[in-house]
Amino acid sequence: MVTPGLFITFEGSEGCGKSTQITYLRKYFEQIHPLREVIAVREPGGTALGEKIRQLLQYENSHVSIVAQAELLLFAASRAQLVREVIRPALQRGAVVLCDRFLDSTTAYQGAARALNHDIVEVINTFATGGLLPDLTILLDLEVTLGRARVHQRSKKSAMIDRMEQESEAFYESVRKEYLNLASLQRERWIVMDASLPPEQVAQNIIMKLQEKIACVK
Ligand SMILES: Nc1ncnc2c1ncn2[C@@H]1O[C@H](COP(=O)(O)OP(=O)(O)O)[C@@H](O)[C@H]1O
Ligand SMILES: [Mg+2]
Repeated sequence: MVTPGLFITFEGSEGCGKSTQITYLRKYFEQIHPLREVIAVREPGGTALGEKIRQLLQYENSHVSIVAQAELLLFAASRAQLVREVIRPALQRGAVVLCDRFLDSTTAYQGAARALNHDIVEVINTFATGGLLPDLTILLDLEVTLGRARVHQRSKKSAMIDRMEQESEAFYESVRKEYLNLASLQRERWIVMDASLPPEQVAQNIIMKLQEKIACVK
């Protein structure tokens, strides 16, 4: 379904700078089109149900064991709710929706890194999103060791142990590889950015790419 809104998703491993870049881009859109609604949402989360699922998925401290299949379905449940409660209505109002992770995270993490069946992951993704795809997806590509170093710095400030951040280097290598593979398969939807540059530089590069790709970003 074509809507008047603009749907941009951010992908990449922990620490690549998704939250940081969403803040920059949100400010940019608010400057160039002060009257246009801009919303930023995150996955899992973004709704009352989604935030509860986020708590379950995110923290090790709760000692809840989650098998890969259950993990896939929990992410999908959060996404199903977010699409129908928040994203679709916003796009229909003509808003710019900036989403921190979307279906490609499931393909990379549960599909590639956890090695769940690719076709099943795709079916569940489509069921959850109702077929909604981002207009553009920005991959913040970063060497695994660099991402881990950033996350390590960040997590010193938090008492909660993030479940995903405990995964091995090999796990994150396969996440990165799958993201790059997805980007190479759908070049019109993806923008691959070097996320090792300073944050302001990454933001400028993203804006330049968006200006090339979409007429309304000027
Ligand atoms: N381009 C960058 N260069 C150096 N550090 C960065 C950059 N972007 C973000 N950071 C820092 O790295 C950490 C992770 O960034 P964040 O935006 O939270 O990543 P994500 O949301 O992808 O996990 C934060 O402490 C942030 O301040
Ligand atoms: Mg973040």
